[in-house]
Amino acid sequence: MLTQQELKQQAADAALALIEPLLGPGVIVGVGTGSTADLFIDGLARYKGRLRGTVASSERSAARLAGHGLAVLDLNDVAGMPVYVDGADEIDARLHMIKGGGGALTREKIVASVAERFICIADESKLVDRMGRFPLPVEVIPMARQAVSRALAAMGGQPRLREGFTTDNGNVILDVAGMHIEDAPALEAAINNLPGVVTCGLFALAGAHVALLATQDGIRRLDRA
Ligand code: 5RP
Repeated sequence: MLTQQELKQQAADAALALIEPLLGPGVIVGVGTGSTADLFIDGLARYKGRLRGTVASSERSAARLAGHGLAVLDLNDVAGMPVYVDGADEIDARLHMIKGGGGALTREKIVASVAERFICIADESKLVDRMGRFPLPVEVIPMARQAVSRALAAMGGQPRLREGFTTDNGNVILDVAGMHIEDAPALEAAINNLPGVVTCGLFALAGAHVALLATQDGIRRLDRA
């Protein structure tokens, strides 16, 4: 029986195998945040002579990449990248995701938006029939915390401030339990539209293109329909 850590390692290795043919001297790889992304970063270090550099979705990942001697580029200096590789807190069969358990959702969404393909890596426990059991992270400008909390409560959620946490962008996170996620793209747009919200952790308007889910029987690959 493989442990969750071993499953995460398998997912990271599968992503490395998938992107390996794409690597070349000018290639930039977008890199996510979290324990699964950390394993991907550690593996990517083996290929550091075969890519131009990376774009990180958090200070944490940037430090880990730099620690391996991988170049970390400013997104403003990058016109595009073939892939962005990251984990998820939940993913469904349509490859919509909830992300932001590590609080990096905004930069993750930004870097992913510049990549041609989002490859989601996770152990199979992240695959759900219906998203919403994992409280939905929402990054909020501090002065709007109460106003956004009231708006999210009016949408049926129970927002809770992530105590003692500040994002890389200097903002707070509201973790919203109990959201009824029927139409994920519509809900993502509605939450993102609330004044004071930087972004919400639903990745449905632009979900993953490929999911590599590690199971006890090997990697299960899902592709966007
Ligand atoms: C960070 C994220 C992570 O990708 C998500 O929380 C999954 O993390 P892990 O790989 O540690 O389970 O969205 O903001």
